[in-house]
Amino acid sequence: MLITFEGIDGSGKTTQSRKLYEFLRAKGINVSLYREPGGTPLGEELRDILIKRELNERTELLLFESARAQLVLEKLKPDMERGAVVILDRFTDSTLAYQGYGRGLDLELVRRLNEFASFGIKPDITFLLDVEPELAVNRIREKTRFDKLEFLKRVRDGFLEIARGEPERVVVLDTRRGEEEVFQSIVDILSEKFPGKFDF
Ligand code: TYD
Repeated sequence: MLITFEGIDGSGKTTQSRKLYEFLRAKGINVSLYREPGGTPLGEELRDILIKRELNERTELLLFESARAQLVLEKLKPDMERGAVVILDRFTDSTLAYQGYGRGLDLELVRRLNEFASFGIKPDITFLLDVEPELAVNRIREKTRFDKLEFLKRVRDGFLEIARGEPERVVVLDTRRGEEEVFQSIVDILSEKFPGKFDF
């Protein structure tokens, strides 16, 4: 089972994915949590480069996909094969939203590379934490190359477009409701959608 969290920088997805990880672990569920880019030694090195260096958008795309392929092979697949629930803080939708909708790279090409790097693995459910880019920008502490307002607006619209295209998989959560309420709906939606697996 694969659960992913998506959203623009400052949407609170890191907090929510960590909360869900702690919650499931406390219930005795076998669960792992990774972030993208990252989660493996190579992935963490690539993360450093991706965040600090000015890269052209094609190089950037390929490095995100490289970090992903490594994570899927080293962690995601083995964990899923032994029956663990895997939570990912960002996955393929981030690449489509940031490099596709945000940077303007060909969407079909990004989709194909996503499929290649993820070995065809798709999330069972994706929580898209939606926030106004104007609000998010104020919340971002560590400034990166990915936090310019106009850019984040395109990325956010991209995420919402992805959600409209796959309403069965992607659940959009309005983060204006506050951290605790958002978390409660995540738990409710999981037990409603996967009653055999999560009956909290
Ligand atoms: P992340 O650690 O999630 O940043 P934050 O905690 O600020 O939300 O991700 C680092 C940056 O990498 C983030 O600005 C989004 C960007 N990113 C992409 O542009 N494409 C991708 O495929 C991924 C996974 C992340």
